[in-house]
Amino acid sequence: MTGPSSTRVRTVGLPLQHESADLHVTGAALYTDDLVQRTPHVLHAHPVQAPHAHARVARLDPTPAYDVPGVVRVLTAADVPGLNDGGVRNDEPLFPDEVMYHGQAVCWVLGETLEAARRGAAAVAVDYDELPAIVTIGDAIAADSFQGGQPTVARGDVEAALAGAAHVFSGVTEMAGQEHFYLETHASLALVDEAGQVFVQSSTQHPTETQEVVAHVLGRHSHDVTVQCLRMGGAFGGKEMQPHGYAAVAALGATLTRRPVRVRLTRAQDMAMTGKRHGFHAEWRVGFDEDGCLQAVDATLTSDGGWSLDLSEPVLARALCHVDNAYWIPHVRLHGRVAQTHKTSQTAFRGFGGPQGMLVIEDVLGRCAPLLGVDPMELRRRNLYAEGQSTPYGQPVRHAERAGLAWDQVVAEGRVRDRLAEIEAFNAAHPHTKRGLAVTPVKFGIAFNFTAFNQAGALVHVYKDGSVLINHGGTEMGQGLHTKMIQVAATALGVPLDRVRLAPTRTDKVPNTSATAASSSSDLNGGAIQDACDQILARLEGVPGDTWEERVRAAYFQRVQLWAAGFYRTEGLHWDPATMSGHPFKYFAYGAAAAEVEVDGFTGAYTTRRVDIVHDVGDSLSPLVDLGQIEGGFVQGAGWLTLEDLRWDDQDGRLLTGSASTYKLPSLSEMPLDLRVTLLPHAHEDGVVHGSKAVGEPPLMLAFSVREALRQAAAAFGPPGTSVELASPATPEAVYWALERARSAAQVTVP
Ligand code: MTE
Ligand code: MOS
Repeated sequence: MTGPSSTRVRTVGLPLQHESADLHVTGAALYTDDLVQRTPHVLHAHPVQAPHAHARVARLDPTPAYDVPGVVRVLTAADVPGLNDGGVRNDEPLFPDEVMYHGQAVCWVLGETLEAARRGAAAVAVDYDELPAIVTIGDAIAADSFQGGQPTVARGDVEAALAGAAHVFSGVTEMAGQEHFYLETHASLALVDEAGQVFVQSSTQHPTETQEVVAHVLGRHSHDVTVQCLRMGGAFGGKEMQPHGYAAVAALGATLTRRPVRVRLTRAQDMAMTGKRHGFHAEWRVGFDEDGCLQAVDATLTSDGGWSLDLSEPVLARALCHVDNAYWIPHVRLHGRVAQTHKTSQTAFRGFGGPQGMLVIEDVLGRCAPLLGVDPMELRRRNLYAEGQSTPYGQPVRHAERAGLAWDQVVAEGRVRDRLAEIEAFNAAHPHTKRGLAVTPVKFGIAFNFTAFNQAGALVHVYKDGSVLINHGGTEMGQGLHTKMIQVAATALGVPLDRVRLAPTRTDKVPNTSATAASSSSDLNGGAIQDACDQILARLEGVPGDTWEERVRAAYFQRVQLWAAGFYRTEGLHWDPATMSGHPFKYFAYGAAAAEVEVDGFTGAYTTRRVDIVHDVGDSLSPLVDLGQIEGGFVQGAGWLTLEDLRWDDQDGRLLTGSASTYKLPSLSEMPLDLRVTLLPHAHEDGVVHGSKAVGEPPLMLAFSVREALRQAAAAFGPPGTSVELASPATPEAVYWALERARSAAQVTVP
C-alpha cells in the first residue's frame, strides 16, 4: 500500500460484496432488537390497541393492569412531560384521546416480559364512543375530507390545448398502496444513564428526527438525547418518519422506570399500526395531436393520506413532479390533494410518490395507444423528452437523450422487434394463452424537493497507526450505503479497504442529519466524506514518509490534526412550494425496461418470461451493490403493481390483509424467468462523487413494463385495437377481468 502522493489504491468502482454480507448470511449481524439479549433488566412494551377506526376514548383505566403479575408501569398521556406528539407536524398525539384508525395504540404497558406486558395491555379498561369513520379514498373525496395543502403544477394553457387537440380522452386511474414488509419490524431500545442522558437505539432512517421527537416528548433538549441506528433489516421509506413515536414510548418508559425499555412491534402490529405507500386516485383529461404527440394533460391526483399528514405533502409534491415521467407535455395542469381517512398514516415508500405520479401517465398512454391506433411502444418512444425541453415545474431536462439511449439499448439487446413477431405468431396459435411485451422508460429526479435536506456531514478519524474510522449521517438499511462510503473514503485517502472501518450512525457523532432517503445518501454523505478526507490530505501535504503509515505517524509528531469533520451541500437547487416550480433536482436518473409476460385465459394467472433492463447509475461507485438495487427495486415495483393487494374492512377500518398469509409478496417464484440488467455506459455525472448517480429508488419504476405487458397480453384476447383498463395491482384476478372485457369486446364486433 502506498501513500496519497504515490499511486493511489482505487477501490471506487470495484464490484464488492456488501460490507456486512457475511454477517447478514451467517446471522451474526446485529439489529436493534438483538441488543435486548445483551441488555440486563429490560422492560418490554406492549400497546393497547383500539378496536375502532374512529372513536373517542371515553374512559381509560390502567389500574386493572397492575394486578397482572409482571406489569411494571402503564404509560398514558398523563406521563408525558413534554409534547404529547409522535411526529413533527403536531397532528399525531402519541397517547390519543381520539382514536383515528383501527389498531391505534391508546396507551402502552411495560412488563418484565413481553407476555406480562401483553396480558397487562389486555387488562387495561378502555371505553370508546364510536364516531363515524371514512375508510376509502372515494368516501373521503365525497365527504370533502382533506388535509394539508392542495398544490398545483401548471404550465401553458391546458384548456386551449385540449380544445385544439386532434384526440382528447378522459379517465380515472386508481392505484393501491403497498406494505413495506421490511423483514425487521419497528424496534427501539432506550436507556437512561446516571445523569439522565437518554440513549435510544432505533431502527430509523432519520436518527436526527427521532432524536428531536424523543426530546420534545420528554420535554428535553436535543443534547440530552442520543439516537443510534446500527443497521436496519429493510426500511424502504417506512422508517423515515414512523419510528419516532415508538422510540419516544421507549424513551418515556426508560425515563420513568430508570430501566431499559424495549419496543418492538410484532408483524401483526407493524402491519396494523404503521403507514404504507399512499394509494392514489387520479382523474385526467389528455390531448394528443394527429401524430400521437402529447399536447396537454389536466389531472387531479388525490392521495390517501390516512389519519395524519406525516410525509403526505412531500410525497404528493414528488408525485406531481413525476406525472410527466420521461415525456414532453407542453401544457399541463396537475392538481394534488391529500385525503384524510381513518387508516394508518401513509408515508414514504421507495419512490416517494414518484411511482404513483408516473403510473398515471403510463396508464394514460397504455389505454390511449389503441384508441389512437398507434403501437404503445411507438407512442412512448415518440413522446420521450428531447434535449432543451423542460419539465412542467420548469427544470430543464438535462441528459434527456439518456432515456432514449437506454430505450434503444433495451430494444436492441432484448431483440424486442424479433420477439414481438414471435409473440404475434404465438398468440395467433394459442387461443387460450397470450403473451405480451412492453417497454417503458424511467426518469426520476434526484435530491430532496425540500432544499434544506440536501446537506450532510461526516467525521473521519485517522489514528496514529494509519487506520481510519469513518462516521457519516446516513443509515444502512441493506442498500449498501456503508459499502460505498468505505470505498469513497479508502479511495480518497489512497488506502486499502481493510484500513477503513465504519462506525454505526449516531446523532452525537454527526448532528443535524437528513433522513437517509430520496436515494441521495451516497451523493450527500459521499460528498461529506470526500470533504473530510480532502482536509486531512491537505494537512498531510509535505509530511515525509514512504508509506501511509509513516506519514501519518510523522504527522502526529508534527502535531498535525489527523481527523476532520466534512460537510456537503448540493449546489444549484431551488424550489418554490407556492408556485410548485424551480430546480428541485440535481439531476435525473434514467432507465428503460422491456418485459414479456404470458397470461392464461382461463384464470388470469401469469408468468414474467423475460425482463431486460438498462439503467443509468452514472459511473457506478459499486456495481454489485447497484445491480442488487436495480434487481431489488424492480421486483419490489412488480410486487406493488401486480401482487400486493392491501384490503381494509370498509366498515370498521380493520386491515384485512395484516399478515404474510393474506398479503401476497413477490417471492422467488414471481421473479422473471430471465432477468438481464445492464448499466447504461458512458454515463458519468459531473458534480457528484466520482461521477456516480443515485440508484435506490428509480429502478422500482422499471416495473411499469410488467404492468404494460400484462395489458398487452390481455388486449390480445380481444380484437385488434382493444383498449384495456387494468386495475392496479394487476393481480391474476384483475388480469382475468381485464382479458374477459377484451374477449367480450371481441364478441360484440363479431357479425
Ligand atoms: N434497499 C434495501 N436493501 N433496503 C431498503 O430499505 N430502501 C430504499 C432504497 N433501497 C432500501 C433499499 C429507499 S426507499 C431509499 S430512499 C434508498 O434505498 C435510500 O438509500 P440511499 O439514499 O443510500 O440510496
Ligand atoms: Mo426512500 S422512500 O426516500 O426512504
